[in-house]
Amino acid sequence: MLIDRKNWQTHSRWCFAVVFITLASVVWFCCLRWYSGEWAGGSSPTGFAFGLIGGAIIVFECFLWVRKKYLRTWRIGRAQTWLKIHIWLGLLCLPLLVMHSGLRWGGWLSFVLMLLLIFVVASGVFGLILQNILPKRMLEEIPAETIYSQIDTLGGQLFSEADRLVSVTCGTKPLVTSAELESGPIVVGAIRTVGLVQGKSLELRPAVPIADAEALKMFFENEVASFLRRGREGNPSVADASKSAVLFQNLKTQVPPAAHDVVSAIENFCEQRRQWDTQARMHFWLHSWLLVHFPFSVALLVLMLVHMFVALKFY
Ligand code: HEM
Repeated sequence: MLIDRKNWQTHSRWCFAVVFITLASVVWFCCLRWYSGEWAGGSSPTGFAFGLIGGAIIVFECFLWVRKKYLRTWRIGRAQTWLKIHIWLGLLCLPLLVMHSGLRWGGWLSFVLMLLLIFVVASGVFGLILQNILPKRMLEEIPAETIYSQIDTLGGQLFSEADRLVSVTCGTKPLVTSAELESGPIVVGAIRTVGLVQGKSLELRPAVPIADAEALKMFFENEVASFLRRGREGNPSVADASKSAVLFQNLKTQVPPAAHDVVSAIENFCEQRRQWDTQARMHFWLHSWLLVHFPFSVALLVLMLVHMFVALKFY
């Protein structure tokens, strides 16, 4: 969920309420300590009330998943509203439950419960921060953004195109094959059509063999091919934009000026692959935090029910 200046007004009421309830509870909690000489624990009326409210919030928090998974079509409020409440109540339950504990770790069950609560809230905050940073960065840094699941396939296509271009330029492939007769000749400097990237506007012209350009072929095979196919793990040097710029600059000194456009075109292919790599990395971070948040939430809910059962039995 995006929280910015535009929608802050819809969050501000929740933020104010959470801050107010937290401060009021802390003041009350401290007053009790002042009068009784000890921190109110879970068995005191105030501590019990904190536990009850915090527990109810945890049940509500987990219900977000049920709502998303099974009750999508039910008219029980917009998903955005649910998420907004999820965020602010999630933040509120931490101080309430810390006070419910009477500022003591207790036995192993309450210790594990507290750790889980801290992990769940911290991972939620972390995920929220990522949701607010990464989509904006994607928009700015990845003009070639594409469908995530197609990145590997598109990398393969990029490799095939680059391979054809290099092979024709170095004279190791016939100028026009029967397949190319149908799809058109290989062009140097074509503006990329996959994704939204606008490649450098090079002069468009059909690729032709260029004498003494063997260094291009070797460079392509040693440095570029595996990168276009597998991204960073294929070649970390080309994955690094500044190292890659040096490598390509160096290559230009080893091939005749007539081949420089082709070198630039291959460099452009690498830039596109780099953007897809960045996209895959951001996609991973944008989704992987839920792999902590969700299972830990389920564990928290289950252990909390056990804790309630045990505590009420001996109350
Ligand atoms: C005890 C506290 C909490 C519990 C038990 C809890 C539990 C959950 C559960 C079960 C989900 C659904 C996972 C899924 O859709 O696969 C979820 C999603 C989420 N939670 Fe929490 N959560 C808690 C606190 C927080 C806090 C404090 C924040 C942020 C400040 C937060 C932010 C989020 C976000 C951003 C999502 C993803 C929603 C989406 O994009 O669909 N959560 N949480």
